[in-house]
Amino acid sequence: MNRQKIIAGNWKMHKTVQEAVDFIHLLTPKVTASKALVFLAVPFTAIGHASAAAGNTNIIIGAQNMHSDTQGAYTGEISSLMLREQGAEFVILGHSERRHIFLETDAFINLKVIRALQDDLIPILCVGETEHQREQNLTHKVLKEQIEKGLHKIPEQDVTKVVLAYEPVWAIGTGKVATPQIAQEAHHHCRNCLSALFSKSVANKISILYGGSVKPENIASLVSQEDVDGALVGGASLDPKIFSEIINHC
Ligand code: PGA
Repeated sequence: MNRQKIIAGNWKMHKTVQEAVDFIHLLTPKVTASKALVFLAVPFTAIGHASAAAGNTNIIIGAQNMHSDTQGAYTGEISSLMLREQGAEFVILGHSERRHIFLETDAFINLKVIRALQDDLIPILCVGETEHQREQNLTHKVLKEQIEKGLHKIPEQDVTKVVLAYEPVWAIGTGKVATPQIAQEAHHHCRNCLSALFSKSVANKISILYGGSVKPENIASLVSQEDVDGALVGGASLDPKIFSEIINHC
C-alpha cells in the first residue's frame, strides 16, 4: 500500500522560541532527502518563529492541541484560526496526556477534529489503550470506541485528511516500545474500524502512525509493518541528530 509515510515530532512542553529555531536550522540539512513527511508539533509560543524558520524546507510545523470553538470566554485556550495565523498546518488532538491529565473526553476531541478540518488543519487523532485495559483484553474495544467517537459525523470526503496515531499509553515515555507485531495487530484493527465506519478504500488511504518510545533503533522494524505508516515521536524528537536518524530510517 502506497500511503504517505509521516514522522511527527511532539515536543510537549519543551523548547523556547530560540531553541526551536536553532533546532530547525540543525535538522533541515539532515532531512532534505527524506522520503517521509516531517511534522514538528512545537509549543504554541514557538509556532510563528518555527514556521518562518522552516520556510521552504520539507519540515511542516503544527500544534499539540487547540479548542473546538473559534473564539470565546475560555481562559488559557487557543483556537484553530490563531494557530493557522501563526503558520501551523496540523494539530495533534486527543493525545493521551490530554485525555488523562486534562480529562478530555472523546466528545470534546471529536469537536476539535471537526473544527480542525473546517479550518484546514490536518488533525492527528491519537488513540490508545492503557496497560490495565490491555491486560483486561479491552484493547480492541477501546480503540474502536475512541475511533468511532473521535470521528463521529465526519464526512467520508474529509476523513482521508485525518491522520490517526496509535499510541499505547503504556509505551509513552516509558522506554517500553510495542513490538512490531503488537503494533501491526493494533494498526490493522484500527484500519478495520475505519473500514467499517467509512469504506475499505477510505481506510486504505488514511496514514496510521505508531507512537510510544520510538527510537532510531526500533523505527525500521515498526515501519516495515504493513499498516504502520510512520511514527509520532516524543522524547526522541528533542534532539535533531536523533530525530533525523528516525526520519532517515523510515
Ligand atoms: P515518547 O512519546 O516517544 O516519548 O514515548 C510519544 C508521544 O507522547 O507522542
